[in-house]
Amino acid sequence: MKISVVGTGYVGLVTGVALSHIGHVVTCIDIDEAKVERMRKGISPIFEPGLDELMIKNIAEGRLFFTTNHRDGFAQADVIYIAVGTPENEDGSANLTFIDQVARDIAENISKDIIVVTKSTVPVGTNYYIRDIIEKQLKVDLQVDIVSNPEFLREGSSVHDTFHGDRIVIGADSDDAAKVIEEINTPFGVPVYRTDVRSAEMIKYASNAFLATKISFINEISNICEKVGADIESVSQGMGLDKRIGSLFLKAGIGYGGSCFPKDTKALTQIAANHDHNFELLKSVIEVNKHQQSMLVHKALERFGTLRGKNIAVLGLAFKPNTDDMREAASIVIIRQLIDLGATVKAFDPIAINNAKKHLPDNVEMTNNIEKALKDSDCAIIVTEWKEIKELNLEQYARLMKTPVIFDGRNCYELERVKEYDMEYYSIGRRPIV
Ligand code: UGA
Repeated sequence: MKISVVGTGYVGLVTGVALSHIGHVVTCIDIDEAKVERMRKGISPIFEPGLDELMIKNIAEGRLFFTTNHRDGFAQADVIYIAVGTPENEDGSANLTFIDQVARDIAENISKDIIVVTKSTVPVGTNYYIRDIIEKQLKVDLQVDIVSNPEFLREGSSVHDTFHGDRIVIGADSDDAAKVIEEINTPFGVPVYRTDVRSAEMIKYASNAFLATKISFINEISNICEKVGADIESVSQGMGLDKRIGSLFLKAGIGYGGSCFPKDTKALTQIAANHDHNFELLKSVIEVNKHQQSMLVHKALERFGTLRGKNIAVLGLAFKPNTDDMREAASIVIIRQLIDLGATVKAFDPIAINNAKKHLPDNVEMTNNIEKALKDSDCAIIVTEWKEIKELNLEQYARLMKTPVIFDGRNCYELERVKEYDMEYYSIGRRPIV
């Protein structure tokens, strides 16, 4: 199969590389010339474990190409995947500007019948909207089939997820088009779930909203655990043993971040509102998440009375480990609050510093050396559960810090272990060690 993928963000690039790896000839299209130049050399623009190796291999074997030119990119394509961003509008709804542009580019540049597959997360009905635009703009009589094929990969493990997913959702009206997409995906060995276009679009939003709900739910339970003296790690484990609940996405922390959950939850409340439905449950999930992000700052304020003049080490900046993505990271909210409260912040992250610069005030010192961040600090706030933080020798806290007071937003350490060291330790949903 000859495939074109438009957009080389997380979803587009990983999709393109993975499809080439299972034997298809794939051309990835992006408007950014410098980025395309680097990708041609096998350099991934994003940090994603395993991706560079796959890029290099498939470029060398002549299955993976990159271009900025839509005409070249679409020339031979049997199938075009749309994987451009759908950022947030001011009212929380999904912005379809990029989708709109791709639809026009497709209409202008194709010269044979085409199947258009949408990977981007788009409001229900958007696939039909895409087909309408293409059909209206087409100057020749060609058949355009649409397929909704939402993506469920997680950043930081997207290569692994692509080859080991739980399901591939294919939403289509045309049986023939659905079969083509099913065949394209067969080598992944992942079960396929066939449905209609609108339901496939909804499955994506509903899945992300449900996972976000699980996280906000367990975070609320953790807050109650602190009040009643229960331990959230135990509670979550005990709940997760029930197969109806499941143990995944029950890890309490400082709330969800990233480029998907915050955006998609807001977009789904908007979709509901546009159809006169008040999605109150999801609105609460969003509210709880906002509140949870400030949890550690409240704990620090309670412990110290004031944070004015305090030197604070913030450990971890990325929205989760194994990624350099800073979008909607809790660290941004936490650091801004600390600075507003008069603290001085030194932040550690092993790989996200470059991206972090765009999101954080200039006066935040950043380092990829954890010891430098901890040195002479009054307290440390753990925001991302990086391996470097989880595996740190706990003696280091007392050795390096002025006062070894730790606020851990990711429950990185067992309480029994913490007790053996000279440190004051406040975590999420567990009793403090003082
Ligand atoms: C999420 C979904 O998990 C993917 O299935 C989906 O494809 C993707 O969004 C998307 O829509 O593109 P991602 O945002 O990459 O993936 O990362 P997750 O691993 O889901 O984590 C999201 C946030 O939730 C992180 O901030 C993480 O720290 C937090 N989280 C996750 C928790 O606080 N507790 C948990 O138990 C799990």
